Amino acid sequence: MCGIVGYVGPQKAEEVLLSGLTRLEYRGYDSAGVAILTPGGLRLIRRVGKIANLVEAVREAGITGNLGIGHTRWATHGLPTEDNAHPHCDCTERIALVHNGIIENHRELREELALRGHRFRSQTDTEVLVHLVEEHYQGDLVEAVRQAVARAVGAYAIAVIHADHPTVLVAARQGSPLVAAVLPQEAFLASDVPALLPYARRFCFLEDGEVAQLRPGELRVWDRQGRPKQPVFREVPWDPLSAEKAGFRHFMEKEIHEQPRAIADTLRSELSTPWEEGLSGLDLSEIEHVYLVACGTSYHAAMVAEYLWEPLLRLPVTAEIASEFRYKTPALGRRTLVVAISQSGETIDTLVAVRQAKESGAQVIGVVNVVGSAIAREAHAVLYTRAGLEIGVAATKTFTAQIAALALLGLWLARARGLLGEAELRAAKEELSRAPRLVEEVLKLEPKIEGWAQKFYTYPNFLYLGRGVLYPLALEGALKLKEISYIHAEGYAAGEMKHGPIALIHEAMPVVVLYSAQELPHKVIANMQEVRARRGILLVLADAQDPEVQELADHLLLLPPSSRMLLPFTFTPALQLFAYHVARLKGTDVDQPRNLAKTVTVE
Ligand code: F6R
Repeated sequence: MCGIVGYVGPQKAEEVLLSGLTRLEYRGYDSAGVAILTPGGLRLIRRVGKIANLVEAVREAGITGNLGIGHTRWATHGLPTEDNAHPHCDCTERIALVHNGIIENHRELREELALRGHRFRSQTDTEVLVHLVEEHYQGDLVEAVRQAVARAVGAYAIAVIHADHPTVLVAARQGSPLVAAVLPQEAFLASDVPALLPYARRFCFLEDGEVAQLRPGELRVWDRQGRPKQPVFREVPWDPLSAEKAGFRHFMEKEIHEQPRAIADTLRSELSTPWEEGLSGLDLSEIEHVYLVACGTSYHAAMVAEYLWEPLLRLPVTAEIASEFRYKTPALGRRTLVVAISQSGETIDTLVAVRQAKESGAQVIGVVNVVGSAIAREAHAVLYTRAGLEIGVAATKTFTAQIAALALLGLWLARARGLLGEAELRAAKEELSRAPRLVEEVLKLEPKIEGWAQKFYTYPNFLYLGRGVLYPLALEGALKLKEISYIHAEGYAAGEMKHGPIALIHEAMPVVVLYSAQELPHKVIANMQEVRARRGILLVLADAQDPEVQELADHLLLLPPSSRMLLPFTFTPALQLFAYHVARLKGTDVDQPRNLAKTVTVE
């Protein structure tokens, strides 16, 4: 999604903006731009394509100043062209604005503003905002922004500068993230923490409805009604080094290898911040239904939890795609627990599901990686995955960290409901603590997995099959392959193959089978025979030696044996590495796959 950076202070604004935008590249974008206040007035530079194009253009133009805003755009309204790239200017070219989100009533506003003589230069929904600021401006930029956003329906995070106010940066948020940081002589703004990690570690996460004014050394915040608020700063424990590749070819590769630590830190976090305290405000004893709500990879983590929790909690547990859940109007109430899972904590569909669940009286727990993000703030209780900063657009370490947190939460809930004794809980936690070591063992199999990738990276289609808890992992394996290598891949519950996908099997169709002694091994062997009978190519990941499997498989990867709860930690890294090496060999943009965004803040 779009990224925003703003700066005011003694440094060269263009340098801070361009380095911030580069750090936001992982969010996905198709064009980028900056507006800098120079001695000759506001200067706007925008380019289609990579940030490198913009860096070159800014350098060539030789512009410099101490106040500026920058933007990476991910097109929603209007093609990715230079005119549609942000920042956008008002008619006088003294106000510049960048925006992340969607203004739903932009058509009405555009008609109204055009009738009042405003000239539009782009096809974007955003441009109405800068003309609205112009319309309301009478010397007070904060007030003009407040009045302008009051007219907008939809989601926005905006940053605005005005040539008459060389030390002022104004921001507003509704539904899209914005963070501010202040140092004694400067102030920074961004849509995401990584943009600012080289400069600050303490951040103020703006809330919905807030308008903020940043000046060197100062942050002032007002609520929707214009009442002043005390900004709250939070420390973010991320190290700027974690934003570097540390010798790996891609961030995704690095993040796959960081999983043992990410899982161990997540499991440990229960000890450092006792969950009893975090969850103490909730009444979990009377829960009758649990919904796990998420999108994409986080939804696959939710599905894993559904398989792990249902037998533990003896309750209906349902994993739901957040964008569907919102519109299903499920019957929720005090006896419903909604667990919202999100790496970014800002995915709009999941965030709105959280809000709806709260309005319906349900109790809501967020499982989130980004400290202080919207879901973390809005859920009744939050459990953090401690995966650290994830830069690769494809989620890897945050997925296994989510599963670690959810496995632990399942045990914790079973204990809270009196279904698990203290000794059983201790034994299960002990078992779970083996997960980092298991991941390490699987990562050692990388050369063999890379060999598979070399054999198969030219194939256009893949089928992934699994049963039980291996079914969501098959879905995740297929998602990883398709999103970074652009190869068509489908995940299926192995038992469903004969109800349709079997028609796809032929001698050039690789079928990745997840086989475990823990999940219906005989049924899965029968599914493999069905593939074999149609000459499909069987790539089997197995955590147990079985002569029949050995005979059926064209290629066999033997994973370390484990328990049912630990299956995600052995199968997932192998599937991630396979997708990674296939994509690398194909030469795709592994860390920033086309059309994808790290944080999806539009519906
Ligand atoms: C896939 C991927 C996405 C995200 C999804 C939800 O690799 O990363 O499918 O999982 O956009 O994002 P979060 O977890 O931030 O809510």
